[in-house]
Formats: sequence, structure tokens, C-alpha cells
Amino acid sequence: MARTMNPPAVQPPTEYETISVKTLTPHIGAEVRGVDLSEPLSPAQVADIRRAWADWQVLVFRDQQLDREQHKAFGRHFGTLHVHPMNHFRDGDPEILVVKTTADSPYTAGEAWHTDVSCEAIPPMGSMLYITETPEVGGGDTLYADMYLAYELLSEPMKRFLTGLTAIHDGGMPYVGNYKSTPPEGGYPRTEHPVVARHPDTGRPLLYVNSGFTTRIEGLTKAESRAVLDMLFDHIATNPRLWCRVNWEPGTLTFWDNRCTQHHAVWDYWPHSRYGERVSVVGDEALQPY
Ligand code: SIN
Repeated sequence: MARTMNPPAVQPPTEYETISVKTLTPHIGAEVRGVDLSEPLSPAQVADIRRAWADWQVLVFRDQQLDREQHKAFGRHFGTLHVHPMNHFRDGDPEILVVKTTADSPYTAGEAWHTDVSCEAIPPMGSMLYITETPEVGGGDTLYADMYLAYELLSEPMKRFLTGLTAIHDGGMPYVGNYKSTPPEGGYPRTEHPVVARHPDTGRPLLYVNSGFTTRIEGLTKAESRAVLDMLFDHIATNPRLWCRVNWEPGTLTFWDNRCTQHHAVWDYWPHSRYGERVSVVGDEALQPY
């Protein structure tokens, strides 16, 4: 397959003091070894995980045995825990999002390329999904796509065109349109974000529109907006060069950066079941344009 001449988004190798990493691809995804997330983490361990997260965007921790409090304690090292807007009508711990699919499920959560809850003004910057049941026949992987590289691989004229534009992200589209949930009073959040944003930690430009939530590019006609969004969604959904793939085992926790990645849960295991719980951490600030 022909490759474009854009520079590869390969990270310089970083030395970590307390962990080792085994990368999944040259640009996104790494398995982290040498840390037990059920134990209190030292400042050096937290600093290493933060650096590895900035370097690799998606971190996979294998063979973890966590209860809910330990899962949440891991999340709190990185920020305030997020309450998902769909949890408003559910019983249970509001800081835990249950991700459960059975033969009777009308849908599986996250089965479209998206970044979590981007309809909020300050969306969760990171999510930690802990899977405890996987389909015994295999399947149920999650794909992650690198939004730094998605931006880099656009042509220079397209980058210039998109930079400075904003887009609407509407929670009603997935939560009512797809999941048929009853909205809270006042409706699900709807907000505007830059189409090309600057990552607050790394300073790098990233593409910030996703097919799960983004409904409209401001300032374009309806037809222009649809055409540009469809082109960008196809760029992400049809370009395996952007992706890494996480194959779950019971006891795997994956911690991803929602600002510079998107993910897609693959529902290829019906009528089998899969179960996990997700904790997310809120960002410090709204994403700024690049
Ligand atoms: C999600 O957080 O969107 C769910 C991802 C998954 O189940 O793999």
C-alpha cells in the first residue's frame, strides 16, 4: 500500500524508573509492566505512568485484581472522578460506568469511533476500563486510533482549512438517538470544541471530531459540514495505520487519553457476554484551538 510522505509520529524512547513498557505499535499503545494497581502507588510510579501515558496515549495493564475502591483510587491519582451523564437514572456508584454486553443487549457501549462524553464542555480527559469477563470464544477487542497522527496525515491545505474551525458535540445523538435513554431535565450536554485542538500536556495538534458525538462544523453549510465530517470520520475508520488493538483478558485495565485518541468497541462475540467497569477522570480545562 502506498504511504504518504508525512513524518511518522514515532515517539522518542523514554526511560522510566519504576515500570517497563512494551509497545503495541510505533506510535500508539503500550503494555505497562511492573506495577500492581491494587497497591498504593508511589509518586515515582504515578510520574512514570503519567509520562508513559503522554508518550503512548493508551496504556494496558495486565493481570490486575481490583475492587471498585482500588479502581477508583487509581483514577484519583490523575484527577477528579467523572460522573457519566447516563448514570443519572441508574442505581449504583455514580463514578462507575458499567460496560456490560450480553446476548440480550440492544447495543454494546462504544460501538462507534468516539471519544468519551465529548458533548461536555470539559470532557473526561482519561478513562480506565477494567474488564473482568471476556467472551470465552474470543473477540471483544477494542480499537484505539491516534488523533495526533490522524491530523498529521491530512494534507497541508486540509490542515489549514480545519484549523480555527469549531464543531458541535451533542450528547443527544448517542444517548437518545442510539441508546434510547431518557434524557435528564434540560437534556444531555451539547457543546462546541475546536476541530483542531492543542493537547494541554504535550502541546501537539490533534484532530478533535468523532462520529459518536460531533454533529456539525460551525460556519459551514449543512451539506459542507456533512461532507467534511464524513471525510474525517472515514479517515479515522478506514485507516488501520492510525490504530492499535487491545485484546482483553479478565484482569486487564486499559487507561487511555480521550483528548488524543478515539476508540471503538468491537461487538463480534454475540451471543456471548463481556463485562467491565469504567472510571474516568475530568480534565482541568476545555480544549483550546491549535
Ligand atoms: C467505552 O468506554 O466506550 C467502551 C469501550 C469498550 O467496551 O471496549
